[in-house]
Amino acid sequence: MTAAPLATGTAPDTAGALLSVRGLTLDLVGGTPQPGLVQGVEFTVPKGRSVALIGESGCGKTLTAMAILGLLPRAVRVVSGEIVFAGTDLLTCGPRELRRIRGGPVGAVFQEPMSSLNPTMTVGDQIAEARRIHFREGRRTAREHARELLDRVGIPDARRRLDSYPHEMSGGMQQRVMIAAAIAGEPRLVVADEPTTALDVTIQAEILELLRDLRRDLGLAVLLVTHDLGVVADFCDEVVVMYAGHVVERAPVRDAFRTPAHPYTSALLGSVPRSDHARTPLQVIGGRVPPAGSFPGGCRFQPRCRHTAPACAEPQPDTVVGSGHHTRCGRVAAGGLQPGREL
Ligand SMILES: Nc1ncnc2c1ncn2[C@@H]1O[C@H](COP(=O)(O)OP(=O)(O)OP(=O)(O)O)[C@@H](O)[C@H]1O
Ligand SMILES: [Mg+2]
Repeated sequence: MTAAPLATGTAPDTAGALLSVRGLTLDLVGGTPQPGLVQGVEFTVPKGRSVALIGESGCGKTLTAMAILGLLPRAVRVVSGEIVFAGTDLLTCGPRELRRIRGGPVGAVFQEPMSSLNPTMTVGDQIAEARRIHFREGRRTAREHARELLDRVGIPDARRRLDSYPHEMSGGMQQRVMIAAAIAGEPRLVVADEPTTALDVTIQAEILELLRDLRRDLGLAVLLVTHDLGVVADFCDEVVVMYAGHVVERAPVRDAFRTPAHPYTSALLGSVPRSDHARTPLQVIGGRVPPAGSFPGGCRFQPRCRHTAPACAEPQPDTVVGSGHHTRCGRVAAGGLQPGREL
């Protein structure tokens, strides 16, 4: 089934959003500026929902996630935009408020637990620290909560494990500790950047199962950066597709797979994943993402697109093609392309 464009506009649907990213534009600091490294990114994460952020390597997914967490590398600055979490703009709120939110209502889980865990502190102390900072708990109460959290994330013999150091644990166990630390702040949103990529396949499935349980039990919203389309289909409600620093499509997951509206999404998703939890790798698309700093004007996908037209050289309007389904493709906006798998 195909859907005709309904309207064009610029505002994201922010009603009911827990997190709303609007017009986020990033550039490098010093050296050669790379205008539009990440440009005009907008999407929302509704309360309790799981949103996938996908796109080929180098498209700006991690930078977007880091901007939300206030953890951008020194070399990257915010040029413009808003990142509104539960009514607070994280880009203008000041360091104290940001410290209250990060590790509290907004938790983070990264690909490499060892790069986030402190190797010189026991895992118990690291988890307890979140309780002490965000809830002003005393030592004993915080330690007891840390034990409960280790237990909750499936670490056997949690009381004894409180006194372990991260390097004494396997990668899967370290990632569980990272998740325990993230939920210690009782988050409403967890930003997870490829949380299972560094783990072997069986452990990946266990960690995803854990995240799924926590989502259900704690009513968490999740922004999940992933390359795994099976995970997108199984775990996520909505998907945001980035290409070369732009969001080219955002849609409910079902619609993105069934009726992708942007030729890049169509090429990226390739085929509808099967419902048997098959892990489908991203399909290889001819050509490469251009390096930041040498993006074409207008639609950045046009040098690789089979449907390109003169209008693609202009900035692409935000086009609504279905409920919660937006794309930035000039040909779709003009009615010259119909969303669907024949793209
Ligand atoms: N610290 C940095 N200094 C300079 N450029 C950077 C820095 N971090 C990222 N970039 C550049 O920003 C662009 C987006 O990078 P980002 O890490 O967000 O990509 P990604 O979509 O997360 O890719 P991957 O799927 O490989 O993780 C890339 O061109 C990258 O080279
Ligand atoms: Mg990344």
